[in-house]
Amino acid sequence: MSITVTPTTPEFVAEISGIDLARPLPPADRDTIENAINRYAVAVFRGQKLSDAQQIDFSAQFGPIHSSAQRARHTGIKHRLDRTELADISNLDGDGKVLEVNAKRRLDWLANRLWHTDASFRAVPGALSLLYAHVIPDEGGDTEFADMRAAYDALPEATQKQLDGLIAIHSIWHSRGQLDVNRDKYTAEEQASLPPVPQRLVRTHPGSHRKSLYLAAHASHIQGMPVPDGRLLLMDLMEHATRPPFVHAHKWREGDLVIWDNRCTMHRARPFDTTKVRDLRRVTTRDIASTLEQAA
Ligand code: OGA
Ligand code: MN
Repeated sequence: MSITVTPTTPEFVAEISGIDLARPLPPADRDTIENAINRYAVAVFRGQKLSDAQQIDFSAQFGPIHSSAQRARHTGIKHRLDRTELADISNLDGDGKVLEVNAKRRLDWLANRLWHTDASFRAVPGALSLLYAHVIPDEGGDTEFADMRAAYDALPEATQKQLDGLIAIHSIWHSRGQLDVNRDKYTAEEQASLPPVPQRLVRTHPGSHRKSLYLAAHASHIQGMPVPDGRLLLMDLMEHATRPPFVHAHKWREGDLVIWDNRCTMHRARPFDTTKVRDLRRVTTRDIASTLEQAA
């Protein structure tokens, strides 16, 4: 069995086959995967069989893992998964039952349906996310990805110049507010633990040296600009970046592991019948620093 990288489109999304991710990862294969992520931003592995520990061990080869050991949100509830390295992306409660329609965690989780990039609301944001599918409903529930490097390249030069040096303010409360999941659902400690943070609107992706838009549902406005102007700019860029040429939909099968690079993509979940089980589990690695401390 030898590792093979098959691009889905010339510059965005690749399927990687001929590798069992449950086994120790040979350094050469690790490098092949990292190079593929740097080039294609989204990597799909089919037919994997991974325990939580195996998913975490594999993920740890690609950077320090963002752990929820000091849980900032969802305090005081029973968690289904023991390992703090895993984010529970399922619609299941602590006992493995489908979340009730008004459950706080369900309402919070619905924000994954907004275009976003993981953990941009943290000063040191997410780098790679590695999402593994345990149970997939028969219909719906695709994940869509947007190529933010191609979206940047396609902007008129004048717009690229206009964006130069701009800083967006990101906050988890902004994305939740868009769905009217109000702050009063969260404790004062939860709110205080995640204050708004600044991130560059355009950043250079370190693995490819290509420029990328860095946007998300968490971004509320632009520093130094009236809030409505900044918000409209963000909305225009979001609309631009999520037009069909830049978007790829992943249709999940059980046993898929998908890696995406949050530094140069956005993603969103698509609807499905949320009375059916959808069980995905995610590991996210930490970026090296705030985008303000990285190349523009
Ligand atoms: C995530 C996420 C989308 C989905 O895991 O970060 O946004 O389709 N998931 O579940
Ligand atoms: Mn996400």
